[in-house]
Amino acid sequence: MAQLWGGRFTKETDQLVYDFNASISFDKRLFAQDIEGSIAHVVMLEKQGILTCEEKDAIVKGLTSIRSDVEEGKLNISHEYEDIHSFVEANLIDRIGDAGKKLHTGRSRNDQVALDMKLYVRNEVVAVTEELIDLLESLLAVMENNLNTYMPGFTHLQKAQPTTLSHHMGAYFEMFKRDVLRMQDVYKRMNYCPLGSGAFAGTTYPLDRAYSASLLGFEGPTLNSMDSVADRDYVIEFLSALSIVMMHLSRFSEEVIIWNSNEYRFVEIDDAFSTGSSIMPQKKNPDIAELVRGKTGRVYGALVSILTTMKGIPLAYNKDMQEDKEVTFDAIDTVKDCLHLFNGMLKTMKFNTNIMETSAMRGFTNATDAADYLVNRGVPFRDAHGIIGQLVLYCIDKGKAIDELSIEELQAISPVFENDVYEAISLKTCVEKRLTIGAPGQKVMEEVIKMNKEFLNSLGQM
Ligand code: ARG
Repeated sequence: MAQLWGGRFTKETDQLVYDFNASISFDKRLFAQDIEGSIAHVVMLEKQGILTCEEKDAIVKGLTSIRSDVEEGKLNISHEYEDIHSFVEANLIDRIGDAGKKLHTGRSRNDQVALDMKLYVRNEVVAVTEELIDLLESLLAVMENNLNTYMPGFTHLQKAQPTTLSHHMGAYFEMFKRDVLRMQDVYKRMNYCPLGSGAFAGTTYPLDRAYSASLLGFEGPTLNSMDSVADRDYVIEFLSALSIVMMHLSRFSEEVIIWNSNEYRFVEIDDAFSTGSSIMPQKKNPDIAELVRGKTGRVYGALVSILTTMKGIPLAYNKDMQEDKEVTFDAIDTVKDCLHLFNGMLKTMKFNTNIMETSAMRGFTNATDAADYLVNRGVPFRDAHGIIGQLVLYCIDKGKAIDELSIEELQAISPVFENDVYEAISLKTCVEKRLTIGAPGQKVMEEVIKMNKEFLNSLGQM
């Protein structure tokens, strides 16, 4: 047992209590952030005359050497310490002696852990955003290459109206674009530094909190020291944004699974992103998409877990908050893996454009346009709807598409039909006439793609 406290205790901690309380097995992830935060803290302490220049230099040198030793594998983060903060401080004191004991001046583990977690999450918001941007770029490439790839659009999973693959992928582009904007939003709101809040009531040392905040790249210091140590809103906001990313990925996965099925065959997932069956030699399964869909649950779980943990905690710090880490780390790892693998699958997936087009032709997706044809020739819409309904019934009986009927067959159902109907209800016409912004017509799709390219180019550093 190696802990930072013990002075007021007359007994050793029970081993089971110690183990239950310890967090080093998971908060060792915060190692780099802990060192970074401590360096900023002592640089500020020296500027304020609380540490001498020599003390500050010795501490910074000690912390830097601990960091490089861990990075190079020369020093192991041992589980004998209670948490990552104790590990760093104990090692520092071992290395530089008394000066090391001054590191924690004007600081509590409460503001220290609040800072470490914030620094960690802030990096991960950027990392997730980068994965999202890679996915957006892949989607844009599919969109640009498939402006004229016709396919059925669905409602109720029933063929509804024709659209294009470009348009369908564009829907996912918008979802993941909003995810990027949500990440930027999380970043902006969380970017205030809790360091210097002490246990919860600030400190009597003349700290310059704005200075340490600026050293760590924050917008400024947080404005209430009690809130600073008790706040995990940014973790919840991030997990909420991650849950929405997973919901989007899961819907997309569901479509890939359907499209990859033997019945649809709209896509073929690359061999490198599929798996086989141990018994059925013919099988090529969409496991990546299924796993992404499946892992959505654990990310939602993390969000609900922290929301629940936080809801009953009185101000300020309570040990419950140590529970913020494991599920958050797991959710972050999961989402980054899912984004990365899904993107790899998308980039290597083959779109069977002929099958998509045939499916659109065979599914009466031009029935609305056939009704509109009649409306444009004076038939009231409700009557036109009925006429096309009859036509569809006739087609089903004959096993034909509407545009495969002869003009005589069409006119037998409504004399309003003329030879120009074939052109009017072709897949191409049906799609290309849809020119309201956001619709699949080529001209407006091109405009939207241009706007979305500008969006991607406008994304700078957070
Ligand atoms: N391991 C703790 C956590 O993750 C660090 C803060 C401990 N502070 C305290 N007062 N016991 O929350």
